[in-house]
Parts: sequence; structure tokens; C-alpha cells
Amino acid sequence: MTHVSSTQTIPQAGEVPRHVAIIMDGNGRWAHQRGLPRFAGHQRGVEAVRRIVRACSDRGVGYLTLFAFSSENWRRPAEEVALLMQLFIAALTNEVRKLHRNRVRLRVIGDITRFDAKIQALIASGEQLTAANTALTLTIAANYGGRWDILQALARLCREQPGAAAAGLHETQLAPYLSMAYAPEPDLFIRTGGEQRVSNFLLWHLAYTELYFTDRLWPDFDAEALETAFAWYRGRERRFGRTSEQLESAALTPGQVAQAAGRG
Ligand code: IPE
Ligand code: IPE
Ligand code: MG
Repeated sequence: MTHVSSTQTIPQAGEVPRHVAIIMDGNGRWAHQRGLPRFAGHQRGVEAVRRIVRACSDRGVGYLTLFAFSSENWRRPAEEVALLMQLFIAALTNEVRKLHRNRVRLRVIGDITRFDAKIQALIASGEQLTAANTALTLTIAANYGGRWDILQALARLCREQPGAAAAGLHETQLAPYLSMAYAPEPDLFIRTGGEQRVSNFLLWHLAYTELYFTDRLWPDFDAEALETAFAWYRGRERRFGRTSEQLESAALTPGQVAQAAGRG
């Protein structure tokens, strides 16, 4: 089922974010600071992934989306790309059963046709094994680009509904074709590693997401750091275009505000 866009519903205040999306950045710098090869940082980054998946499960987060490899990361030295692919294979081979035991549902978004057949097969079997799990949905963005996602959605829409564009497109028509149509839009975006940019991550989905940037390098990111981000999130007032007064008005429940804004 596709959720109503989070730009149109007001999530309950004070809650743990329902959907957390993270740009896991800073592995290379973490390694460099220690005189280690970049790959050592990526290896430690996998440990951080394990910690954060567990922490999000424990905290009752519904959806965790992790940017693992961008469509631009192919530009890195061939050796680093190859090592990242090996790490991806190892993680898919070793972690999926554990995810399944913890009732985590695994999804991968991105143009996976660019990966070799072995990776594509591991993705397919991991998704299949965990498809019915109802705890955390863990989405790995691999060879993902936000612009690619919008374009592939538009292409599929035009293929399946040839007359749609001529009739005047609405957001809700495109949304089901985006690669994360199964999830509500992210409530909280986190980027580690100090950069304050989106780097072609979830361009469509971040329209009203709260953006949190931390200098902490990804291999050092832990449950406590996540909790700090959640505390910051709880302090935000998500107005979605309205005024504070409107939101504070006791007469308007979040549902009514959404209705007043006109859904769909
Ligand atoms: C993020 O860490 C991991 C990937 C992009 C695969 P980086 O490798 O970008 O680390 P820095 O930014 O060089 O420190
Ligand atoms: C973004 O990190 C992509 C991932 C974390 C997978 P980068 O390190 O590649 O981002 P830029 O290129 O510095 O913006
Ligand atoms: Mg980086």
C-alpha cells in the first residue's frame, strides 16, 4: 500500500521519526585520520550500519533508509569501487539471515542492473526472504540517484498510462512509481561527515523532511549520536507551509489540518 505523502499529513509531534534516511559519509576521512587505507573506513562503516539498524529497531523506527553507493560513486578509483562491491557482497551474504531473524524487511533501491549478476541475485534473494517481515524496513540505496528515481518513475508512468501526461500530471500519480513508494516520506534526514548537501539522494522525498547534519564521521556514529539527532528532531516544529498559530490551535487536530490543506 502506498502511504499518503508526508507533505500532506502532519506526523504526531514528540514521536520517534517514522522514517529516518541517512547519508553515511566520512568513512574515508575516518581512515585517513588513522593512517589507514580508505577501505578500512568502509569496513568500520558496516559496523556502524549494524549498530544503527539495531538502534532504530529498538527505538521503534518503521523505516530506515541508508545511502550506501550513489550513482556518482562510480567516479571513484576503480580499486575503491571494486572493494566497495566486495563489501556489499559480504554484507548481503552474511547479514541477511540475521536481519531476517530480527524480522527486518530488506529493500534495495537504485539502478541495480549496473551491478554484476551475483549482487543482483543476492539482492533478489534477500528481498524475497525478508519480504513478509513486519519490524523495521531497511532500505539500502545502491547505485541510487534522486534524479534517476524521478525519471524512471516518469518513464514507467508514461508507459503504463500513456494518456496521463496530456491530462495534466498530479504528484499523487507519480508517487506510486518512485522506488520507495512502499514507505512514507522521511521525517528525519541525517548526514554524517560534516558536509551540508544532499548529493543526489532522495530529491523528491526530502521536500518536507527535517535535515540534520553532524560532523561525526559515519564509523563513529552510534546509538547515542542517533538519540541526539532524535532529540533535535523532537524540537522541530513541522509546519508544512502553515503557521505556528494554526498548528497550536487546539481546534485543529493534525488530521483536520491535513484536511484543511486539501489532500490528494
Ligand atoms: C561514505 O564515505 C561512503 C561512500 C560514499 C561509499 P566516503 O568514502 O565518502 O568518506 P569521505 O567522505 O571520503 O570521508
Ligand atoms: C554520498 O557521499 C553518497 C553516499 C554516502 C553513498 P559522497 O561522499 O559520495 O558525497 P559527495 O560526492 O562528497 O557529495
Ligand atoms: Mg564522502
